[in-house]
Amino acid sequence: MKRLVLVLIATFALADSFITKDEYAKMLYKNPRGIGCDKCHGIDGKGLVLGRYHRDDNTTVKVIAPDITHIGFQKFYEALTSAKHKLMPHYFLTDHEIKTLYYYLNKKRTK
Ligand code: HEC
Repeated sequence: MKRLVLVLIATFALADSFITKDEYAKMLYKNPRGIGCDKCHGIDGKGLVLGRYHRDDNTTVKVIAPDITHIGFQKFYEALTSAKHKLMPHYFLTDHEIKTLYYYLNKKRTK
């Protein structure tokens, strides 16, 4: 009986610490190193308008975070590993994390 209780406790404890790949991917997208990709690119990665500036000549300049759901992996990878961006923070992500983020964005598209 004692043994059974122990096995049950161990099972629940382990089950609790496992999350699915989809859950992990979403979590990472929403919180990689403190600032979520969703804050700028939107929860579905389709991009967002971050701000608008009205200029003296009455024109408006929009600052946008682009749609990141239709780009190839190579471009995606380079965007996240180069330091060339003006607005996007530079993340120091591992290759596995970059692949997981790419998986998250492209999984959504197929639905
Ligand atoms: C503070 C806002 C912000 C956050 C947070 C952010 N991005 Fe960006 N991202 C941008 C902007 C703006 C650009 C356009 C290039 C630039 O000006 O930096 C961009 C460009 C990109 C590009 C290149 C798109 C292209 O077509 O070349 C990719 C890929 C990308 N972001 C992915 C991500 C991922 C993945 C995350 C989370 C790890 C993330 N971004 C977080 C604002 C953001």
